[in-house]
Amino acid sequence: MSLILGIESSCDETAAALVTSDRRILAHRLAGQEAAHRPFGGVVPEIAARAHVEILPSLIEEVLAEAEIGLDAVDAVAATAGPGLIGGVMVGLVTAKGLALAAGKPLVAVNHLEGHALSPMLSDPDLAFPYLLLLVSGGHCQLLFVEGVGRYRRLATTIDDAAGEAFDKSAKLLGLGFPGGPAVERAAAEGDPHAVPLPRPLLGSAEPHFSFAGLKSAVLRASETGRYSAADIAASFQQAVVDCLVDRTRRAIEAAPGATALVVAGGVAANQAIRDALTKLAGGHGLPFAAPPLWLCTDNAAMIAWAGALRLDAGLVDGLDAPARARWPLDPTAEKARGAGVKA
Ligand code: KG4
Ligand code: ZN
Repeated sequence: MSLILGIESSCDETAAALVTSDRRILAHRLAGQEAAHRPFGGVVPEIAARAHVEILPSLIEEVLAEAEIGLDAVDAVAATAGPGLIGGVMVGLVTAKGLALAAGKPLVAVNHLEGHALSPMLSDPDLAFPYLLLLVSGGHCQLLFVEGVGRYRRLATTIDDAAGEAFDKSAKLLGLGFPGGPAVERAAAEGDPHAVPLPRPLLGSAEPHFSFAGLKSAVLRASETGRYSAADIAASFQQAVVDCLVDRTRRAIEAAPGATALVVAGGVAANQAIRDALTKLAGGHGLPFAAPPLWLCTDNAAMIAWAGALRLDAGLVDGLDAPARARWPLDPTAEKARGAGVKA
């Protein structure tokens, strides 16, 4: 059994956690920065990096105090080393390096996407490799065949916006506030999902990928007509996203057989309509469905500590020269998807 201190700082959540390799979360802390970014309607990288500097040390002290241990009791220090906003990533990674060096412990430089990808295993002890993962967050929308720790085959990605980005931008267009995903979900609960005709980009396409930019533009046009309530547009938008995610995931299930389960992770996985639709899809294909609890879906440090624990067990530790990376694909062999806004 190993005990890992995990640190997350790649976007606008500052977080620290202590997690064991036998799935015990000894302590976890998370400090959001929503109030600092709200006036700008999105995350401002420089504000985020400064906030991480101010908040992170106290969160680390708090988790150690809650678990009543010192740094000497941990077996490794794990931190997100990318992909993400580079200033914030550097704050967390440099902090982890300092702690690892001071305590004489190994460093594990974790890919943030690997944190999301392995998070369902932290909450579900029955989940086994290989599984099909829909990873939907603010920066990414991918289908991955998860073969093992550090072994990911990317089946699909977005050719333009990520799913969470579409939620956030649509929320901004509709004046629903920030962060957009939860705001759209709340508004959608009051609306009619069939009220506004919206496109479903790439639905039924032989190409495996996702696209959301056209949907976002259609939301803008629908709101400019003045004919629909924000609730109806939000509900119709959410339904269109659900339809696209289900269609593309169905295609992946059929194209890459052999998965033991269908799994969803990442911030957008907190959306109940998406969870319900994927549960149905998995059931229809005889697959178990797994999704982490909501707090483990959005950014947190427990998933980074957990990925660190699995990597440490696999002997995958890093030197103190591990770089912070703004872009860091989980499957470096994946071909580029078409389109200009190709995300790592
Ligand atoms: O994984 P995450 O916390 O950060 C990234 O790594 O990007 O994901 C954040 C994204 C944001 O775009 C946010 O709007 C979206 O997840 N999100 C949601 C919901 N909760 C968060 N999207 C739809 N419905 C939700 N309930
Ligand atoms: Zn994330």
